[in-house]
Amino acid sequence: MDEIEKAIRKIRNGVFVITFNLDGKHYGMTSAWVNRASFKPNILTVSIGKNRKGCEELLDAEVFCVNILGNEHLEIARHFGSTDGKNLNNFKDIEVKEMEDGSPVLENCVGAVECKLVKKIDAGDHVVLFGEILNGAIQDGESMIFDRNEFS
Ligand SMILES: Cc1cc2nc3c(=O)[nH]c(=O)nc-3n(C[C@H](O)[C@H](O)[C@H](O)COP(=O)(O)O)c2cc1C
Repeated sequence: MDEIEKAIRKIRNGVFVITFNLDGKHYGMTSAWVNRASFKPNILTVSIGKNRKGCEELLDAEVFCVNILGNEHLEIARHFGSTDGKNLNNFKDIEVKEMEDGSPVLENCVGAVECKLVKKIDAGDHVVLFGEILNGAIQDGESMIFDRNEFS
């Protein structure tokens, strides 16, 4: 691993599941690259690999929810973070409610913000989505910090 990669890995991220509803079908994908981008309006960014099977659908959905996982939600992070695509759309045994603007929100999370897609920017092998926050919800619990050792 080169010095740049070592340095960049010192940036801390949380662990999130991006969920959305497209034509009545629920999608979910684990994501660590989520950041706050603006106070007014309240905007965050989500960076999604262009090769992710749900990427196009997410762009089509235009509304999505960032579910903030807690320390006890490792299995959920792994479930929605499978790279074989088998878990995409797999909400079996996953309890969800609905946010005000229709996104599925995980019962097992410490917080959630529902966003409207307001802009997207091409960023190499990823696309960065800018989501203006429409709604928020919180539950008790500490947010998980991404630790790659838990996902290897
Ligand atoms: C902890 C963790 C963080 C991840 N963060 C991102 C991310 O920020 N952006 C992204 O595009 N994929 C991320 N992934 C990978 C996707 O969750 C994963 O590729 C997707 O759920 C499976 O779809 P696929 O089969 O199309 O790859 C992450 C996975 C894990 C386990």
